[in-house]
Amino acid sequence: MHEDIEKTLVSEVEIAEKVAELGFNISRDYEGKDVVLVNVLKGGVIFLADLVRAIDIPITIDFMAITSYGAASQTSGVVRVLKDLDEDIEGRHVLVVEDIIDTGLTLGYLLKNLRVRGPASLSVCTLLDKSARRLLEDLPIKYKGFDVPDQFVVGYGLDYRQKYRNLPYIGVLKPEIYQKATS
Ligand code: IMP
Ligand code: MG
Repeated sequence: MHEDIEKTLVSEVEIAEKVAELGFNISRDYEGKDVVLVNVLKGGVIFLADLVRAIDIPITIDFMAITSYGAASQTSGVVRVLKDLDEDIEGRHVLVVEDIIDTGLTLGYLLKNLRVRGPASLSVCTLLDKSARRLLEDLPIKYKGFDVPDQFVVGYGLDYRQKYRNLPYIGVLKPEIYQKATS
């Protein structure tokens, strides 16, 4: 698995430090509020698991599963809901926890879908921001871990064809891994 990685972008230690910082800020900002962290499966699940343990105010978590149509490493912008939230979010403070925002089309769809349910507030916490490829502006990104360049990254929840999610750091895949897959 590690031999498929060209270079490490964010180390395990850097991730841990950032998660602690984000958790501290979220605890401070949402103190005394009824907050639900909404996680998008499956990429965001590793991040969420660490993030909630860095938060020391009462929160709940809920999950949504969505999928984009199209190729493995490209977003088509058309999204299908595979699993909806279990809980009602009306009047609650919703913080969407994402692994990465690339074009932003997936998140844009999700936010539209959640907004009509009448949350008290709706914000986003993303571990990674690949802003070079952004097509949607004005996303309510309240918390951000790291900026990443326009490269396909894997690890710490992020996959390439469902693999590499269990890498403890975030890295760039070697080009030959794609080339093998597309030839
Ligand atoms: P967007 O709609 O283009 O912002 O795509 C967001 C989704 O695409 C993310 O939640 C990921 O599942 C996936 N994605 C985008 N870039 C990467 C990447 O570099 N590695 C792994 N998955 C990615
Ligand atoms: Mg995702």
